[in-house]
Amino acid sequence: MLLFIILCCVLAIHASEEGKAVQNPTVRSSSGEFLGIYNVTRRGRSFEAYRGIRYAEPPVKELRFQPPVPILRYEKPVDATKNGPACPQPSSPGYYVDEDCLTINVYSPVKAERKASLPVIFFIHPGGFYSMTGRSDLFAPDYLLDRDVVVVTINYRLATLGFLSTGDSLAPGNNGLKDQVAALQWVQRNIAAFGGDPHLVTIAGCSSGAVSVMLHMISPMSKGLFHRAISLSGSPVRKTRSPTHLYPLAVRQAELVGCPTNSSSDIVNCLRTVPWRDLGLSLNRFYEFGYDPLTLWSPVVEADFGQERFLPVDPIDAIRERKMHPVPFIISRTKDEFFWKAFTVLKNETLLRRMNENWEDIAPISFMLPRDNSSLATQRLRQEYNLVDLKNDSDTAYNLGRLYVDAIESFPIYRLTKLMSIHSTAPVWSCFFTYIGNNSFYQDPATKKPVGSAHHDDLLYLFYIAYRFPKIGSQGTDADMVDRMIDIWYNFARYGDPNNRGDTPELDIHWPATSPTTRPYLQIDKQLSIHENLFDQFAATWEELYPIQYY
Ligand SMILES: *[C@@H]1O[C@H](CO)[C@@H](O)[C@H](O)[C@H]1NC(C)=O
Ligand SMILES: *[C@@H]1O[C@H](CO)[C@@H](O)[C@H](O)[C@H]1NC(C)=O
Ligand SMILES: *[C@@H]1O[C@H](CO)[C@@H](O)[C@H](O)[C@H]1NC(C)=O
Ligand SMILES: *[C@@H]1O[C@H](CO)[C@@H](O)[C@H](O)[C@H]1NC(C)=O
Ligand SMILES: *[C@@H]1O[C@H](CO)[C@@H](O)[C@H](O)[C@H]1NC(C)=O
Ligand SMILES: *[C@@H]1O[C@H](CO)[C@@H](O)[C@H](O)[C@H]1NC(C)=O
Repeated sequence: MLLFIILCCVLAIHASEEGKAVQNPTVRSSSGEFLGIYNVTRRGRSFEAYRGIRYAEPPVKELRFQPPVPILRYEKPVDATKNGPACPQPSSPGYYVDEDCLTINVYSPVKAERKASLPVIFFIHPGGFYSMTGRSDLFAPDYLLDRDVVVVTINYRLATLGFLSTGDSLAPGNNGLKDQVAALQWVQRNIAAFGGDPHLVTIAGCSSGAVSVMLHMISPMSKGLFHRAISLSGSPVRKTRSPTHLYPLAVRQAELVGCPTNSSSDIVNCLRTVPWRDLGLSLNRFYEFGYDPLTLWSPVVEADFGQERFLPVDPIDAIRERKMHPVPFIISRTKDEFFWKAFTVLKNETLLRRMNENWEDIAPISFMLPRDNSSLATQRLRQEYNLVDLKNDSDTAYNLGRLYVDAIESFPIYRLTKLMSIHSTAPVWSCFFTYIGNNSFYQDPATKKPVGSAHHDDLLYLFYIAYRFPKIGSQGTDADMVDRMIDIWYNFARYGDPNNRGDTPELDIHWPATSPTTRPYLQIDKQLSIHENLFDQFAATWEELYPIQYY
């Protein structure tokens, strides 16, 4: 706290000595006072940035593995001029990481330009529930703030620190998601002071963030905290029901840091004493085959141990029984998602041989298939995807890539879209992002060029992702893509409908809501176009292998 007071006064004095119009913007809400900075967007529009605001008490010491404790009042002015740390995870030397990481960032057009309170876009970052952050070196609002919206990004606890789940009262699970709820509640209390409308909140997320978005729609804890939802490339509805605990991961984590594994209390008590750095750095030793499985920690269906439950019912049942807060919903994915994972296998002789010779053991790991009784499914998928003999050639690369895409994204998203289009009482829009621009999260190592529209690539046109990519200017097809993507989010945040109502002419097509039968969707490429029945080719196979009731 002391550090914060000193910083704040130093800044204030500095600003007044300069005596210019470069003073820091300040906001006073019923919770406290926040000191931010000014910055400018892609098109040169000024905005106010308030970063690194703690929304919950530091989740350290006795609060580790506990649900978040919201901060309701700030006794001293808050220095919100800089990013807070990322939550513990492997990172490059010197990168700012700390267990005390529960911070929120708010970006808003400058006060003088705000005529009314603005729609709020609350972004939940991707990273598999074990990596990345909402800091502005990853997700800067330089594109979105060219429109009249308030953008919020957050950190939430990751990996063991956020998702330890022993299936008992010691660690019921989902703390990282409960952090997100605490941040959404912070928005309800404070966002009006930053120019945002607390009654017009769009939750948007990518990958694990997209999974989170859907879960807020069914969580009793999130009711009333948002009004529209966008899920990019992620679905909590997969091949079978969600787990009720992640005990094997708790045991693995204990082993990796030298804790006893005799009982749940031995594990939790010992993990409470381990330095956060050791927990964060152990991530890479959880994988079982190369960097597979892609997903390690996940949300769990919580049994009742007297705690407030984030997820009391399996998502499939919750949707079917319409136990949800239906809001207008966009469900999107990219064409090629995790296709590049095929290259990591084919280019590594050891991995290629292991997958070829032990397909039945490796396939459930790499394609995230239920592990019990999996041999029939693995054999069938091997046939269907034409992978009977894996070789380091382009056919295998294509087929193996398709299997990674379908297993991890296409099928879960197809299933979610179908369930939601049947059961949600609010409209659902389906979207397929196929554009390949100047940059990609997967670039060919030889040519350094994109070769597909990979997982996260749609985010390139929504956020300035400074840690990895140059800022997109105002000319070229990448720039046009930014305009379109921003317009879709802007319309949706305002109206609960992404279609053009006059002031977004770049969206020169009518995008109908989806339906259970023909499933129309918008394809986003250099041109926009409408098609039907995304993911038809293999849907029947997957449905047969992993049947659920849709009605
Ligand atoms: C303004 O935003 C840019 C782009 O996000 C960033 O690189 C820069 O650090 C920001 N300026 C300040 C003072 O934070
Ligand atoms: C755990 O079990 C092992 C073997 O059963 C025993 O030697 C050890 O003392 C136990 N540790 C604790 C902390 O109870
Ligand atoms: C191949 O994969 C194995 C297992 O992940 C790894 O240990 C090894 O370093 C990889 N080899 C190359 C050349 O990347
Ligand atoms: C796979 O093929 C590529 C070229 O097609 C080659 O560069 C690479 O060395 C091969 N890798 C293995 C493990 O055979
Ligand atoms: C395994 O799968 C087969 C074929 O679907 C089924 O008949 C059998 O009951 C399953 N066994 C278990 C233990 O689930
Ligand atoms: C790619 O980047 C170059 C250099 O910044 C720019 O001139 C070009 O217009 C960009 N291409 C697209 C497709 O936006």
